[in-house]
Amino acid sequence: MQTNKIPVIAIDGPSASGKGTVAQLVARKLGFHYLDSGALYRLVALKTIQLHADTQNPGAAAEIAIHLNVFFKDEHIYLDDIIVTDAIRTEQCGIVASQLAAYPQVRAALTERQRAFRQLPGLVADGRDMGSVIFPDAVLKIYLTASAEVRAQRRHKQLIEKGMSANIADLLQDIQKRDERDSNRSIAPLQQGIDAKLLDTTSLTISQAQDAVLSWYNDVLAKTRV
Ligand code: DC
Repeated sequence: MQTNKIPVIAIDGPSASGKGTVAQLVARKLGFHYLDSGALYRLVALKTIQLHADTQNPGAAAEIAIHLNVFFKDEHIYLDDIIVTDAIRTEQCGIVASQLAAYPQVRAALTERQRAFRQLPGLVADGRDMGSVIFPDAVLKIYLTASAEVRAQRRHKQLIEKGMSANIADLLQDIQKRDERDSNRSIAPLQQGIDAKLLDTTSLTISQAQDAVLSWYNDVLAKTRV
């Protein structure tokens, strides 16, 4: 089957919106593959930090992105054969990832790696530019968001559950700063595409958000059948 015939559900949105959780649940329900594109930017950030490389140097960051030795298996992410599933979730990694993600060279270096996840029977991809740049022919595009306050509370809960320390006021400030940087960069900025459906999860449970995505996907399937 031609790659461009393999269905993709693109779920884009801001940091800590819960899009990762919803995307993973939808992928599991449909038996689809799952791409956490933010993890790739976080991996480039982690490697940059480990190498003490200059985060202001787009060329150096792109080199790191090109040669990234990463492997996804089950729930785990390996960098140079070491499990970094939790290590990439720190706020420091998120902040550096957001800085490096503004460099066109870094984005270009990660494009094909992301497209390689498009495999049968289908893919649910989450990030910032899944529908606009990486998979413009996705059958369903969703912009999943929630208020900054609710996102700070969700990130707080997530970090505490992982045994990491966190403070809601600091998290809220980081989220607002990151939103601003991700939305205002010149390349692939975070924004709702005109062809993307808005899913505001501020007052929705995870299961309600999951049902909304599945119901839209069923509509897509029903339309392609007629
Ligand atoms: O989704 P996340 O918080 O794990 O993403 C970390 C950073 O990576 C985020 O601040 C912006 C960047 N990112 C991006 O620019 N494009 C993507 N498709 C995914 C993430």
